[in-house]
Amino acid sequence: MIRATTIREVREAVQQARREGKSIGFVPTMGYLHDGHLRLVDTARRENGLVVASVFVNPLQFGPNEDLQRYPRDLERDAHLLMQHRCDVLFAPSVEEMYPRPMETVVDVARLGQPLCGRSRPTHFRGVATVVAKLFHIVGPDRAYFGRKDGQQVAVIRRMVEDLNFPVEIVDVPTVREPDGLALSSRNVYLTPEERAHATVLYRALQWARGRILEGVRSGPELARGMAEIIGAEPGVRMDYAEVVHTDTLEPLEHLEGRVMLAVAAYVGKARLIDNLQLTIRGDEVLE
Ligand code: PAF
Repeated sequence: MIRATTIREVREAVQQARREGKSIGFVPTMGYLHDGHLRLVDTARRENGLVVASVFVNPLQFGPNEDLQRYPRDLERDAHLLMQHRCDVLFAPSVEEMYPRPMETVVDVARLGQPLCGRSRPTHFRGVATVVAKLFHIVGPDRAYFGRKDGQQVAVIRRMVEDLNFPVEIVDVPTVREPDGLALSSRNVYLTPEERAHATVLYRALQWARGRILEGVRSGPELARGMAEIIGAEPGVRMDYAEVVHTDTLEPLEHLEGRVMLAVAAYVGKARLIDNLQLTIRGDEVLE
């Protein structure tokens, strides 16, 4: 595996692969890799000639009182895991390499960045879209892989790619969960064992809503209220939101039809956790 820290190095590796006729798969991450990330790498490995993964904790997507300083980092462990999963190039730039001076240019997928997580993290998706746009220009992938757990992030990036004509296919990969349903997240390390047990309420709320949908309920507000009640009743958990929205437009749904995302977020101890479940509904038919 090539370890690149500069834009020039990663571009050279990609250009060489292109000369050999290889397609490029790209997995952008903030490191501290878990099985969710490794599933992205494995999927990219199956579908591409060259796999590039980036590890970069992007300051632009953290708000002033968020966890930028204490965000977990372990680059040597990440490099080892990426090697085991047959990644070809690890791009781990410094903040100076990515942002040699304050950014004058940003990418703001205006409307899609505002609801859900955007309400408590108003500048977050601008930071994500900006760094992903930069990374796409640096790496020039054919396909880029993102976890479905970050459903709003996927919607924002898909829209950016369409609006700005990036020649890249966005692949969203199903969420990896612990046996008790907790979605894998680098932020789970913030949880004490007791908090971790309470954190499963997000998955339990989603499963409750899924059950109601399978029974025939199609009212978005009714499902959102039910999920909020379940999360609100859990000790040690402060709900941020529980919503039922269209997967691509993120608009709240009165009636469930088409691509539906049940989306939840809550504060548990020092962690802010998110989760979602995505379904396609056509009348009585529910596709998972
Ligand atoms: O999902 C993440 O880890 C980050 O938001 C991303 C896409 C790597 C951008 O920094």
